[in-house]
Amino acid sequence: MKLKNCNNTSDFRELARRRLPGPIFHYIDGAADDEVTYRRNTQAFDDCDLVPNVLAGVEQIDMSAVVMGKKLDMPIFLSPTALQRLFHYQGERAVARAAEKFGTLFGISSLGTVSIEEIGESISTPKMFQLYFHKDKGLTNAMIDRCKEANFDAVALTVDTIVGGNRERDLVTGFTSPPRLTARSLLSFALHPRWALNYFLREKFELSQLKDHVQEGTDISLSVSEYFSTMLDQSMDWQDAEAVRKRWGGHFCLKGIMSVEDARRAVDIGATAIMVSNHGGRQLDGSRAPFDQLAEIVDAVGGSIDVICDGGIRRGTHVLKALSAGATACSGGRFYLYALAAAGQPGVERALSNMRTEIERDMKLMGARSIADLGRHNLRYRGPARL
Ligand SMILES: Cc1cc2nc3c(=O)[nH]c(=O)nc-3n(C[C@H](O)[C@H](O)[C@H](O)COP(=O)(O)O)c2cc1C
Repeated sequence: MKLKNCNNTSDFRELARRRLPGPIFHYIDGAADDEVTYRRNTQAFDDCDLVPNVLAGVEQIDMSAVVMGKKLDMPIFLSPTALQRLFHYQGERAVARAAEKFGTLFGISSLGTVSIEEIGESISTPKMFQLYFHKDKGLTNAMIDRCKEANFDAVALTVDTIVGGNRERDLVTGFTSPPRLTARSLLSFALHPRWALNYFLREKFELSQLKDHVQEGTDISLSVSEYFSTMLDQSMDWQDAEAVRKRWGGHFCLKGIMSVEDARRAVDIGATAIMVSNHGGRQLDGSRAPFDQLAEIVDAVGGSIDVICDGGIRRGTHVLKALSAGATACSGGRFYLYALAAAGQPGVERALSNMRTEIERDMKLMGARSIADLGRHNLRYRGPARL
């Protein structure tokens, strides 16, 4: 199987599975408990059908969306994800450059492996920093200040990792950051020599935003779930979130909002966006899917705040359904992470190109010339009426 044969997210997933040591693949692919929410995130789109209009003169399509004041050429952006240089040695550099080529927003994680400063200097596409609220206030504040210095466009505070999710695949494989060198992990590296040579012979692995404050994750191995449970501040509340917004002073997003009440509070504390998200099913299993929850959140706060549908998106039609339900735009993690692991920057570019082609084709088939043409009128939910 080759990159040129990757036509959809499942193809990229299969190539990533072949190219990565097992523990690393399962860290990307896995989710919490029985992974019910993870599966539902994508299945939710199948409970709803698109109703096209025709004869709409669709030669020219404008799929741009405005998110936190920035015009994006595509209505989907790249959610922040941790540890990218473990998946491919180009890591965040590959993802950011691909986002730049496609004119979309790039999110970089607090657990990123390339620094805020490097991304700030080298990438011109809109940049969002994802903040984890650490017990170490000096670290949390330093990350906010570094984003200001580096001219980031937005900060997203993740609010759904107050403790680590129960990621059982990581328990089984023993996945940690950095990877622990055990007989088992060394065997999985030996079976993937290309990955192993890149990991051991290229730039040393580090968590670039954290390494000057904490050793965990860079020099001391631990699982991501343990990191959340031990390093993040479980007393974080709405006042803290508002204080982060004030210290940052720019466009501010809350990532991991699922209820209407919380969406309203996000507006009250002056957030400019929310990501309706359950962390890709990696935290609370049994939590509702973002797409299932989207319409009621849009009805409550749409117009006052940007509403992003994050999670489960694998196809252009999923993006169209979320936009029709009222999302400002969509975002996703695994759809580009599998591609990164499969083939670095060309992989992420191909994933974005496939997505753009699908969205364009699907908009034409829907008779929508711009995303403003999409609305509830072109959606029908199966089962009891929900609109
Ligand atoms: C491997 C992996 C690492 C992630 N790391 C982070 C992270 O560091 N911070 C964060 O807020 N979300 C993180 N997420 C969640 C994503 O930002 C996003 O919410 C999720 O991937 C969306 O679901 P999808 O993968 O189905 O698109 C991660 C997701 C994955 C798959």
